[in-house]
Amino acid sequence: MSQRIGIVTGGGDCPGLNAVIRAVAKAADRRGWQTVGILGGYEGLLEPRASRELDYRELGDLLNRGGTILGTSNRGRFAAKVGHGEAKGIPAEVLGAAKRGCAELGLSALVCIGGDGSLSIAQQLQEYGIPVVGVPKTIDNDLAATVMTFGFDSAVACATDALDRLHTTAESHQRVMVLEVMGRYAGWIAIYSGVAGGADVILIPEIPFGYDSICAKIDEREKLGRHFSIVVVAEGARPEGGDFVTSGGQQKNREARLGGVGAQVAAEIERRTGKETRAVVLGHLQRGGGPTNFDRALCTVFGTTAVDLVAEQRFGEMVTYTGTQVTSVPLADAVGELRRVPLDGGFVRAARALGVCLGD
Ligand code: F6P
Repeated sequence: MSQRIGIVTGGGDCPGLNAVIRAVAKAADRRGWQTVGILGGYEGLLEPRASRELDYRELGDLLNRGGTILGTSNRGRFAAKVGHGEAKGIPAEVLGAAKRGCAELGLSALVCIGGDGSLSIAQQLQEYGIPVVGVPKTIDNDLAATVMTFGFDSAVACATDALDRLHTTAESHQRVMVLEVMGRYAGWIAIYSGVAGGADVILIPEIPFGYDSICAKIDEREKLGRHFSIVVVAEGARPEGGDFVTSGGQQKNREARLGGVGAQVAAEIERRTGKETRAVVLGHLQRGGGPTNFDRALCTVFGTTAVDLVAEQRFGEMVTYTGTQVTSVPLADAVGELRRVPLDGGFVRAARALGVCLGD
């Protein structure tokens, strides 16, 4: 049966979005189907509608291009998450308008590429009668029901490169360098890059930290003649008994903007140890630029599998990576809760085995 598939990218951008768009458009074309890109995130389904026909022959160089050629948004009438794991129902009139938009565009299915917020929108569209298939995206790697989202590997590569650079300058100046990385309420980017980049201290949201243990680690290194230290702190990390550090205030219908914990940690380390301590916020560099080779491959398999799901009419499902293969799960399994770093998992155990301070 011939199909006309819509593709939408929602939420924060990340490396690999264009690689998924390419894979979907190309695999659909091979089946003789058409694809339509919804512009500016889900908002493009509403009046004034914004979309473009996708012809993969005109979409060269998408495999390694950063960002999303369709544009995206994590605010507006579809905002589905408003806080720490809190889901907000989308009003029926917005869902109805989106359904009319899909009908007017002649779409037989919608491929929704997003993280927990955007896939929770997808789930609500599905329940409202729009056939959807999900593709898991986020640098945070915090989606349930997949062991890896695309974009995460690229963000880890960026953070690890930053740690390598900080090492050389920290050693030259005998300083403590604190790198704040993204990840929202999960410490995946921090623990992966911290282990890969040989950090001395790694602070993640899953383990509230205390300054005594952090400073003891820096002191231990001093005594060993290592007059510099590298600290990675996840933006969602917080001190024992303390709260998340946010910047920019809470805006209506938007998640809290995390950020600033790195500067606080650096100031307190300097106050306690007397060692010059500098903070670096890696920020959106982790989301910009092209995907790693691993992400390019993952995105390609995710995109082609999404087209297979449409062909098999398996709507309401999300493609997922199990660690050995790409398969699918019900969308509902992916959006219920965030996936956090397990305290008994391999990365936490490896860090502890090497004497890395995790703040506890
Ligand atoms: O979810 C991806 C992410 O980059 C988080 O790591 C970060 O907290 C958030 O998005 C930042 O979003 P924004 O760019 O809208 O401030």
